[in-house]
Amino acid sequence: MDREEPKIFACRAGAEFGEKICSELNHIYTKKEDLKGFQLGKSKVTQFADTELKVEILENVRDNDIFLVQSLTNKSMEHSINENLMEMLIFIDALRRAKASRITLVAPNMAYSRQDKQKGREPITAKLVAKIISSAGADGLITMDLHADQVAGFYDIGIDNLHGSTLIMEYLKEKFGSLSDWVFASPDAGGAARAEHYAKRLNAGYAISSKRRDYSQANKVEKIYVLGDVEGKKVCIVDDIISSAGTLVHAAREIHKKGAVEVYAAVTHAIFNEPASERLTEIYKEGILKEVIGIDTVTHSKRFKLENPWFREISAAPLLAKAIRNINRGLSVSKLYE
Ligand code: R5P
Repeated sequence: MDREEPKIFACRAGAEFGEKICSELNHIYTKKEDLKGFQLGKSKVTQFADTELKVEILENVRDNDIFLVQSLTNKSMEHSINENLMEMLIFIDALRRAKASRITLVAPNMAYSRQDKQKGREPITAKLVAKIISSAGADGLITMDLHADQVAGFYDIGIDNLHGSTLIMEYLKEKFGSLSDWVFASPDAGGAARAEHYAKRLNAGYAISSKRRDYSQANKVEKIYVLGDVEGKKVCIVDDIISSAGTLVHAAREIHKKGAVEVYAAVTHAIFNEPASERLTEIYKEGILKEVIGIDTVTHSKRFKLENPWFREISAAPLLAKAIRNINRGLSVSKLYE
């Protein structure tokens, strides 16, 4: 079926990232003279005194192929993840009722995906969120590095879970050339396959850390053991998320102690919850950590980026724009990695 070109909308917290996607789409689509180019669709969000939200779609979307961008974790705004999630659901409902033919969510950091298994009487919130998104009326989801691949199975809609490692490897190769004398390290046993993937693709070595958490204190990492040869090597610690940076800081200190000459970190979702930036600034100033590479699946303010020289942000927008084009045209998304 021949579809019209995609239309891009964004929730408030996703507007900055949505603009980046539009600008990338303007590069990859050959401009037709009668087209203004891609820009965010018009919408209006009203917040009532009791904090309830209303979303209005201010242009025709009947029978259109809509991509709705939301940055669920936007650290440059006051909105909580829960507010952003609710706004996204209301937005989907508004688009559905305005007769869009297909609605694909573009949520590069899918919140709640870490709550993917049950311990005792806990909820499986990743599954709950997946169900709510389908009920709201989304037809598909484009996201990046869900905490565990099996979380994709919670969704009953088409899901494209893109790999941040592709972008990180491109960046590293461009900056350092050959990485065959590097070691890719995971900060915990759960991330061993990720480190091995980098090592295989880049013909480099790999190391695994084993982390013991003290569950009596939220987020506190107890001790890290490093398995693998890091002495005299440049080491890049790879992970999906930095939250409080406890895991990373412990691993970086241990790897440095074991004789690594330079330590880098690369993650998909650089969330940096408190006290991450203090912790990372400290080990950067001590000369232990050289750089933290993070993808813009989480939106940070310009000020944050200026104040934290150890942070290097790379953008997922070019890859996501290509994924949007391919989904719209019914083409393969995995081909984008070849
Ligand atoms: C754990 O399974 C994850 O891959 C991350 O290592 C963890 O969530 C990071 O958390 P934090 O930065 O608070 O140590």
